[in-house]
Amino acid sequence: MEGTILITGANRGIGLALVKAFLDRDIPVLGTARQPEAATELRHLIPDKDILRLDVSQTESIDEMGMALQRRNIKLNGLINNAGVYGGQERFSELDPTVLMETYRVNAVGPLMVIKTCLPMLTHGARVMNISSNMGSITNAGGGHYAYRMSKAALNIASRILSLDLNADPICVAVHPGWVQTDMGGKHANIAPHESAEALCELYLKLESGDSGKFFNYTGKPLDW
Ligand SMILES: NC(=O)c1ccc[n+]([C@@H]2O[C@H](COP(=O)([O-])OP(=O)(O)OC[C@H]3O[C@@H](n4cnc5c(N)ncnc54)[C@H](OP(=O)(O)O)[C@@H]3O)[C@@H](O)[C@H]2O)c1
Repeated sequence: MEGTILITGANRGIGLALVKAFLDRDIPVLGTARQPEAATELRHLIPDKDILRLDVSQTESIDEMGMALQRRNIKLNGLINNAGVYGGQERFSELDPTVLMETYRVNAVGPLMVIKTCLPMLTHGARVMNISSNMGSITNAGGGHYAYRMSKAALNIASRILSLDLNADPICVAVHPGWVQTDMGGKHANIAPHESAEALCELYLKLESGDSGKFFNYTGKPLDW
């Protein structure tokens, strides 16, 4: 029986679809939202007590979530760092250091600090899945989108470093969820949120210690960093 999974940014998009995918498999989920009271769809899926307030860009917010988990003596079988921002379509001429730093904070520093906070609660053999993007791949890089690409490249190297530092316990991977029809991906994206989430859920359940430190497409195919 799979234990509880914590999913960040669970109130919409891929995060919400991931909650549904795990619940469909009878796997218990805790979800985070910046504004739990406004997370209407999530509140239809899981009880209010299982929706934790979290802004990954705020250290105090991460600490408070950690304390809330500790108070309940929660043990986690997995953590999915899904919350993220796009940061805008910057060309080189449009670069704004504030946007660069804010995007880095949410997409790279936030997930790392969430892992640090949750580490004592993760059970032996737990899995950490960082929702990254192929746009953070150096091998497959295209032009523009500096803030997003740089922040996801940072999340990728963080995933790799952690897999070494933690000796694959928990297993730690970075994944590309596909180009998904969400607020971020837009309506012209290739796949629906439930398609991405179903595939990510299957991938998550198959992860083994030998997978730690790798970068996967949502289909399970390894990707180049
Ligand atoms: N959609 C795609 O095509 C695509 C492709 C590659 C990678 N991804 C990655 O997949 C993940 C989910 O993306 P999505 O498409 O589902 O995006 P989305 O629909 O825009 O949803 C983003 C989620 O992240 C949360 N979030 C944003 N900033 C946050 C913060 N500071 N603290 C906590 N939560 C925060 C949002 O909460 P609020 O509702 O409060 O804003 C929302 O729940 C992201 O990491 C994204 O980079 C998406």
